[in-house]
Amino acid sequence: MQLVIISGTVFGTAEDVAHAAHEKLLKAGFQVSYQKQWQLDELLQADPAAVLFVCSTTGMGEMPPAMQLLAKQLDDRLPDWAGRPYGIIALGDAGYGDTFCAAGDELQELAGLLGLVELQEMLRLDASATVTQAADAMPWVADFARELRAWEQA
Ligand SMILES: Cc1cc2nc3c(=O)[nH]c(=O)nc-3n(C[C@H](O)[C@H](O)[C@H](O)COP(=O)(O)O)c2cc1C
Repeated sequence: MQLVIISGTVFGTAEDVAHAAHEKLLKAGFQVSYQKQWQLDELLQADPAAVLFVCSTTGMGEMPPAMQLLAKQLDDRLPDWAGRPYGIIALGDAGYGDTFCAAGDELQELAGLLGLVELQEMLRLDASATVTQAADAMPWVADFARELRAWEQA
């Protein structure tokens, strides 16, 4: 099973989280591909059996520009990833109120359009409460690995 990690960042925190998740999932024995910036064609060729999105929110509740572009391309192309599991680690700041981790919510909608199946509830990392997002995400990633293993064996 080929797990693909897709990250979207402005200042690099989401990339740090994605990198830490990559390491942890590799250690857990999964085949994991992570690139800081996927091109649509590369992603289609990778044909992921499972997807982990790690994405911050910027502007007035938007995805970072490169992630916006990739999300639009996926939305236009609609690859048939139906029934494949996914998870989202969303980064934001609760001080932004209604748009807290809004990019994660948008990705959830996109995943639904692609037919992906949510493996576990989205993790929302709040920059107003922590500066150690990568470490904070590890328990969630460990649970994700367990769920993925169970899904694989089902
Ligand atoms: C200009 C700007 C706009 C932001 N807008 C939002 C927002 O609408 N909602 C939110 O939850 N966080 C918002 N944030 C907070 C970031 O998502 C948060 O700091 C995150 O950890 C940054 O991750 P990154 O380093 O991967 O870009 C904003 C931050 C900046 C600098």
